[in-house]
Amino acid sequence: MSASTSGADTVPSGLDVSALVQPSRVHRAVYTDADVFALEQERIFRRAWVFVGHDSELPAPGDYILAHMGTQEIILVRQSDGGLAAFENRCSHRGARLVVQPKGQTQRFTCSYHAWSFRTDGGLQSMPLPQGYGAESALSERGLTRIRQVQSYRGFIFARDSDGGPELSAFLGGLASALDNMVDRSPSGRLVQRGGKLQMLYRGNWKMFMENAVDLVHPMFVHGGAVMVARKHPELAEQDGITGQTAQMLLANGLLLNEWESVALHAHDSGHVYMGGFYREGVIAAQRQDPVYLAYLAALEQCHGPEKAREVLAMDRFNNLIWPSLSVNARFQAVRMVQPLAVDQTLITSYCFAMEGAPAEMHELSLRFLNTASSPGSLVASDDLEIFERCQRGLSEGLNDWLDTGRGMADDRTMGPTYRRAQGTSELPIRHQLQAWLHWMEPHA
Ligand code: FES
Ligand SMILES: [Fe+2]
Repeated sequence: MSASTSGADTVPSGLDVSALVQPSRVHRAVYTDADVFALEQERIFRRAWVFVGHDSELPAPGDYILAHMGTQEIILVRQSDGGLAAFENRCSHRGARLVVQPKGQTQRFTCSYHAWSFRTDGGLQSMPLPQGYGAESALSERGLTRIRQVQSYRGFIFARDSDGGPELSAFLGGLASALDNMVDRSPSGRLVQRGGKLQMLYRGNWKMFMENAVDLVHPMFVHGGAVMVARKHPELAEQDGITGQTAQMLLANGLLLNEWESVALHAHDSGHVYMGGFYREGVIAAQRQDPVYLAYLAALEQCHGPEKAREVLAMDRFNNLIWPSLSVNARFQAVRMVQPLAVDQTLITSYCFAMEGAPAEMHELSLRFLNTASSPGSLVASDDLEIFERCQRGLSEGLNDWLDTGRGMADDRTMGPTYRRAQGTSELPIRHQLQAWLHWMEPHA
């Protein structure tokens, strides 16, 4: 039995979330209030589909990984029939954290406190001195707390502790295409998580990361220092693997505002958003000459045929955000996960995939991308984290309760009932994310 709190959450008295988000502004409590944060855990991170891992991380029965739905740690485990199950990482006896290794293989989980032992389906298998714990039948009622739904979309695993709401594919909506594209870029159709995981911690609210990822006004200001380094040291590009990826990313942040303006922003309901690519054509052309890339292209054409292969490679997007907590870069087979730890503390975990059937050097590109974009040593990411901390500090007190989110509002274009589009410097993605926030934060039947 799940001990979920879904549908029975506790709304602190006086907290009216619907008043916190308005069409062109948002109340600072959304980023700073501990009650709001607690409610987010119940209403967003339990009820929306949250990305928790990839099939390749737990291929065989008994394989498990630790993951998070917001602040809740879960054990995600492959079942004997090949399916997936997830449980709160908490012993049903006295509540000890059950699993401490981030991943592993097991037939049972045994608690280190009083040695209760659980099967991988969550059932309580045995305990020492059972007679002292009451009737034998109680075993069946003392299993792990199960997360209600776990589903995989093309290898990407999502969970929610709720029976209501849209099915996973409907939830992903227009952004399923980002996951499709990453898988389709693999000549075998298979991706394997490889190369470790990078983590960055910042003292700021989790939503700042998702909002900033599609804020195209900030790069030339916030990342100006990194642009300068890349411009001063053109030799970096030559030592920089087959595409000059690192130097190119640093330089791309130096685009002028009118160049950013020409990047398209696409905002779907559910808060999902993607932005068009912005690497200059020169980079893409250079890649097309590279022997490794040509070998990759040949493998991809063999798999899909030349026309579909071209189509797959032509999808040029940078950040694809699957709200609330996943950022996808299909071109470099990379994901970033947002994990809220506290109202003012967030952990970002980033990793990438190797494409089975592609030349091994293609994975080096993904690793290089990740190191440039998402490592604690990244010249780009460290600038963003500094800004998040300044925002959190600035928002934590003062007389002005409101933040502006109205830029570009007059020019947002409605493309369909659930889909809008804007020019690059619009704050449309932020407005959409906040509307999704409001949707999930309001009580659902
Ligand atoms: S807390 Fe786990 S067996 Fe007692
Ligand atoms: Fe940035």
